[in-house]
Amino acid sequence: MEKYIEKAKVLVEALPYIKKFNGKIVVIKYGGSAMVDEKIKASVIQDIVLMKLVGFKPVIVHGGGKEISHMLNKMGKESKFINGLRVTDSETAEVVEMVLSGKVNKDIVQLIQNHDLNAVGISGKDAKTLKVHKKEVDGYDVGYVGEVNEVNTGLIKTLLENDFIPVIAPVGTDDNGDTYNINADYAASAIAGALQAEKLIFLTDVEGILRDINDKSTLISKIYVEEVKEYIENKIISGGMIPKAECCALGIKKGVKSVHILDGRVEHSLLLEVFTNSGVGTMFLGTKEN
Ligand SMILES: Nc1ncnc2c1ncn2[C@@H]1O[C@H](COP(=O)(O)OP(=O)(O)OP(=O)(O)O)[C@@H](O)[C@H]1O
Ligand SMILES: [Mg+2]
Repeated sequence: MEKYIEKAKVLVEALPYIKKFNGKIVVIKYGGSAMVDEKIKASVIQDIVLMKLVGFKPVIVHGGGKEISHMLNKMGKESKFINGLRVTDSETAEVVEMVLSGKVNKDIVQLIQNHDLNAVGISGKDAKTLKVHKKEVDGYDVGYVGEVNEVNTGLIKTLLENDFIPVIAPVGTDDNGDTYNINADYAASAIAGALQAEKLIFLTDVEGILRDINDKSTLISKIYVEEVKEYIENKIISGGMIPKAECCALGIKKGVKSVHILDGRVEHSLLLEVFTNSGVGTMFLGTKEN
């Protein structure tokens, strides 16, 4: 009997969070790097389904870095990154679109639909959701890498209002109609900002931001947005964590109420973050003066 009472307590503990997020938009960036293990993938999807069924409005923005690199590799093309951004020539842009929009996106849609909920997979191209211009990276030409200048939220809102879970591939177009690869972290924070989301969560393949990338015990559990630049300059934050940390800060600046980086490899890390006050991963905070 006690076992069952414990179970009931767990549910009751979640009640304040269920109330708080009822009807609220939560944007989840699901990193390609954490999307490799099928079991974990299923558990992430299960968490999102549960969030939806208790009244949240989840929006998924996904990456697919590892799958893109794998496909390029098959084609005999090497992947090159500058400051964590994929150098994207026109052939790479085509592969990015095929892998992200065609494969990764539809895989996620299907996993959700296996739970009898409806998801709709779109890319930033659909209904001009993500309008971009070519991203300038100091001193480098990274090719067809887009920076979001406009999020048209109409389609996403229509989907949410009609009870669908939007699943968004980070591909967009510029004014000339050219296709651009957008780092999914930027896409997620632009979308979360435009939707004035309650929460923005980055699921990735590390515990959060680590002071020493080889030592889990150095997890930085809280970080102020003004500290991000310093961590990047000091090279504590490098590679793929650069855009991610910048996007977390950007999310806060754009008015998203809470922004987190979580370990997508840990089963149910999403549930822990959303339904408990366990404080897993790295949480971003506004300026210290506030
Ligand atoms: N200080 C740091 N703390 C934690 N991770 C760091 C740090 N500096 C660099 N990293 C790297 O950042 C990586 C996460 O970014 P990455 O772009 O690889 O994943 P993702 O964004 O989840 O996936 P995708 O880009 O495919 O969507 C980690 O695996 C780690 O190697
Ligand atoms: Mg990344």
